[in-house]
Amino acid sequence: MMQLVSEIGDLCMRIDAWRQAGERIGFVPTMGNLHAGHMRLVDEAFGSAQRVVVSVFVNPTQFAPGEDFASYPRTPEDDRRQLAERGTDVLFAPAVEVMYPGGTGSTTQVVVPELSEGLCGAFRPGHFTGVATVVARLFNLVQPHVAVFGEKDFQQLAVIRRMVADLAFPVEIVGVATVREADGLALSSRNRYLGADDRRRAPLLYRTLCKVAQRLREGEADTGELEARAVEDLRKAGFQPEYVAVRDAATLGDPGEPGRERVVLAAARLGKARLIDNVRV
Ligand code: PAJ
Repeated sequence: MMQLVSEIGDLCMRIDAWRQAGERIGFVPTMGNLHAGHMRLVDEAFGSAQRVVVSVFVNPTQFAPGEDFASYPRTPEDDRRQLAERGTDVLFAPAVEVMYPGGTGSTTQVVVPELSEGLCGAFRPGHFTGVATVVARLFNLVQPHVAVFGEKDFQQLAVIRRMVADLAFPVEIVGVATVREADGLALSSRNRYLGADDRRRAPLLYRTLCKVAQRLREGEADTGELEARAVEDLRKAGFQPEYVAVRDAATLGDPGEPGRERVVLAAARLGKARLIDNVRV
């Protein structure tokens, strides 16, 4: 039976018992409104741990002023049902005061410089500091052996890997490939902000990134030109692109020599939604 836990004491009690018994603990942090992408992470966690903890917490500090914190979809019943069906051991759903006992404004922050600043970080000031801060606290509460994240949030995964390396968190980080709709659109809680017309248009983001990736594979070296053309294609199709960028997949820095793995990343607004996606080359 899945346990629903909202207090730190209850969480620690359960996890301590597993740890005493020598069981491996897997952890999947989420903001809820769960979909098949999140469930893939839970399955992955069960692939390398006996016990799986999933957190559902809409983290206020990773939303910039004016973003969708208040309206972010919250579907606690549905989340609970899906997680229980999957065999999740503990659903940790804390209140804001449990995660930020001293208040959100004066909390200690975990800053991952440089990696947090470009791409989405340039359009969402403070976002990755909020993410790193809450994930660090969650890691200390759950103390998992392994934690699973989606590659859909490619920059987030890079920030977390760097934080774990720099602060020597004893956690193995596992990345999971993006789960998509049949038409290619990456599953996201924010897709529900799309009206019917925009929903039909939305898969063009992934198609555009695939096209850029294909050109790179064919040996195209002018990444600036590829990026600019992709931005133009998206704009013509009704998107408001924030960026399309070809980067080194390991460092998110400038794409180095063609031998290294690269990634094409993009963020674009479409109607009321802000969509992100990426394709590895
Ligand atoms: P959230 O957007 O709920 O995503 C939780 C996890 O699910 C993240 O690791 C994300 O990359 C993964 N995910 C989302 N859509 C996916 C898809 N289509 N395929 C595969 N994985 C997918 O990311 C966050 O929450 C928060 O920033 C969090 C890490 C929980 C910190 O607050």
